[in-house]
Order: sequence, then C-alpha cells, then structure tokens
Amino acid sequence: MIKTLVLPLKTSTLHFANVQARKQLMARGAKMELFITQPDDWHLHLRDGDLLEAVIPHSAFHFRRGIVMPNLKPPVKTTAAAVAYRESILKALPANSDFTPLMTLYMTDTTNPEEIKLARESGFVQAVKLYPAGATTNSQDGVTDLFGNCLPVLEEMVKQNMPLLVHGEVTDPGVDIFDREKVFIDTVLIPLIQKLPQLKIVMEHITTADAARFVESCKAGFVAATVTPQHLVLNRNSLFQGGLQPHNYCLPVLKRETHRQAIVSAVTSGSKRFFLGTDSAPHERQRKECSCGCAGVYNAPVALSLYAKVFEEAGALDKLEAFTSFNGPDFYGLPRNTSKIKLIKRRWKVPESFSYASGEIIPMFAGETLDWMPSPV
Ligand code: NCD
Ligand code: ZN
Repeated sequence: MIKTLVLPLKTSTLHFANVQARKQLMARGAKMELFITQPDDWHLHLRDGDLLEAVIPHSAFHFRRGIVMPNLKPPVKTTAAAVAYRESILKALPANSDFTPLMTLYMTDTTNPEEIKLARESGFVQAVKLYPAGATTNSQDGVTDLFGNCLPVLEEMVKQNMPLLVHGEVTDPGVDIFDREKVFIDTVLIPLIQKLPQLKIVMEHITTADAARFVESCKAGFVAATVTPQHLVLNRNSLFQGGLQPHNYCLPVLKRETHRQAIVSAVTSGSKRFFLGTDSAPHERQRKECSCGCAGVYNAPVALSLYAKVFEEAGALDKLEAFTSFNGPDFYGLPRNTSKIKLIKRRWKVPESFSYASGEIIPMFAGETLDWMPSPV
C-alpha cells in the first residue's frame, strides 16, 4: 500500500512509514490520502427490481466485484436463475461501470449435486450459500438438516472446489439469540470440517470472539470469514441507544463490546483469513420501522469509510488493503484487482435517506459525519 500525506498549499506528496511522523504531520494540519487496490465486497445483498436499481450505484462506486447473496423471493436456487439474476444486475448498473457481480446459489434440502457441476461450468457462480431454514431474511427455503440431506452436494462442492458460505447461526428457539453463532460452530462447523476437511468454507459476518478464534484454529486456506462494518464499530448497546434503533438491527445480531474488540483485533492483526464483506442489506424504511421489523443494515455508502476508521484507530492502516482487496480474491482463487481507489481523510455527511420508486432506504449512520471519504483515483 502506498501511503501519502498531501500537505496543504503544496502539491508534493510525502511517503511515510512512521506512524509517529504521520501523527505529527496530521497535528500540523496535513491531509492524508491512502491509495489502495480497489476493494471487493465478498458478501452483498443487491435485491431486485427498483430496490436493485436504487442500491447498485453505491456498491459499484466503491467495489470492483461483489459476491451477490441469493436470498431473493423466490431464492436463486439454480444456475439458470443465477445467470438470469446476473443479467438483471448488469442491466441495472450505471453506464460505464465495471462492477462485476459474482453469483451464488441458495442451498436447499433438495439441491442436486448436478446443479453444482452446472454452477461451476457456468463460470458465473462462485459459491453456494447455506442458510439454516428460518435463520434470517428469506431463509424459509433454507436447509433443515445439513448432514441428513446435503452431504452429496457438499462432496460435489469439494470436487468442484466450490466454497460454502455459511450463515453461522442455529435456529433452535431454545438457544439464546446471542449464543447462536457459538452453538453453530460447536454443533455444525466443527463436525462439518471433520467430515469434509477439503471443503472451502467462509463463515459469513462473524460477530464473536469464538468465531474469530475458530477461524484462526482451522487449516489455512480452507476456512475464512467475512466481517461487516457494523460488527466492527457497534456493539449491542447501539440497538437500544436512547430507544429502539431498528436501523442497527441485523442478523447475526450485534454482540457485547468484548466480542467487538476481539473481531477488531482479528481483522487488524494482518491475518489472511479475514476479509471485507459488508452484508449491506437494504430494506424499505417501512419494513424496518414497524411492529416486526426486518433484519439488515444498509451500509454500502459508508462501509469503506468505516473500515478505514477501524484500521486507523487500531494503528493498522498498513493492513487495511490486504483486508479490503487481497485476502478475499486470494481465498477464492481469483485475481486481485489492478485498479486503485483513494481514501481521503476528509469529513463528509452521510445522507439522511435515499428515495426510490417504492419508498426510501435509511443508510447506516444516516445524517452523521464520517472521517474517510472514498474517491476514484
Ligand atoms: C440479510 C438480509 O436482509 O437479506 N439480513 C441481515 O440482517 N444480515 C440476511 C443475512 O445476511 O442474514
Ligand atoms: Zn447477508
């Protein structure tokens, strides 16, 4: 990563390696710019119809590629459906955008191993998503018994080197919602990697110290995790700050502060096992501000600013680029991007909302001021 400080009233840039020097220059009013390889988003909900049209410009502005989640209504269960969905995403892209959607299939109890072969042959499908039935938004058609119903499919995925992306929470109503990730690790993931040690697994949107530890304990190159901005900057108090805060509600639900700190340490440690996945999950405002609100935080417009803030506060800006732009493609076996983007240390205000044909969407940190501004080079 090339780090530059742009000094006011001068056009020259300074390259620096020394955090202390940077701090001194910043204190004297220098403005900082980071040039990093363009990031990808390895966990993204783009939806469809007019909501897709409303949100895609935000992801396409910041990211070069996105792993697009298949939990539409109806879900994207086949390669044919994924190819059609990809077409509608490409159609909705702003003119001249080079954003590339990477498609996923929604696993059910009846997914056929043949479908995995088709998926691989298509060249468009990069992974298969496991939603335990009932775990989250549009997961009703998900898997009810992974070991009972899905082993042939998982074995085919090993053969095709097709990663399994997991929503890592059990759905047993008897398990406390704050413990569901840990119980999933113990009862599903550990037995799964014992049975199929060659299966590539991404534990999506991890939220706990237990998950960070688990990922670190696995064989390198086979198990990795995505981490969202909200799980790095918020803890569960944010759900109730001054009253119920529906726009901070997502699944897996925010956890206590010690867990937030553990995942910050994991991503800023430089470990290659963690990479950027926003889980940007827009819902129309009325569907969040109602008596039974949907889970999902719309963070695409603010995600990169927040990741930069987290790495800066941890004194680890030199590790940001690997997290945003290298670890993901390396794990998936895809090339790293060659284009760059710039992150400018400049205050900007997050819009209060985004209007579209069917209503409006409220972004994470609506109306608040953030420190880092992403910009094209
Ligand atoms: C996601 C959604 O709305 O599709 N919601 C969320 O809270 N993260 C689904 C998911 O990733 O769990
Ligand atoms: Zn998601």
